[in-house]
Amino acid sequence: MLGTTEVKLLQFQENGDERGRLVVVEGGLDIPFEIKRVFYIYGSDSEVVRGKHANRRSEFVLINVAGSSKVRVIDPSGNELVISLNRPHTGIYLPAMVWKDMYDFSSDSVLLVLASEHYDPDEYIRDFDDFQSVVKNGQA
Ligand code: TYD
Repeated sequence: MLGTTEVKLLQFQENGDERGRLVVVEGGLDIPFEIKRVFYIYGSDSEVVRGKHANRRSEFVLINVAGSSKVRVIDPSGNELVISLNRPHTGIYLPAMVWKDMYDFSSDSVLLVLASEHYDPDEYIRDFDDFQSVVKNGQA
């Protein structure tokens, strides 16, 4: 089982043959949590910035199943990391309480997101100053 405290790249096995390729991701095995929610983002472009939030509880895995995008992550210590997502068999694991921006979407980008929690808008922190004060004081 993978740890759940740090951003990390996940490499998934590609099952390829003459018919094409197939990638399997199983909750709790390839993904370090049981998957409660799946959503995908497409129709964005190189101008938009999405995300711009942190989550108090949700952990995520992001996979560009088509096209490419970038994700900028700021951890609770203020460390910044930019990851390019451009392979259907590579994912990025994001723990709870990291700030994230998704941007630089190719026109064919389909960004698949697996989440550890059901949707709850109240666990989203959408203001960066609030994020910093939650990190510092435990509340916004
Ligand atoms: P938003 O959080 O702004 O997307 P992103 O952070 O990926 O840029 O969500 C866009 C809209 O979709 C917003 O109205 C909330 C809704 N939404 C849900 O209803 N459920 C979900 O699981 C998510 C991620 C968004």
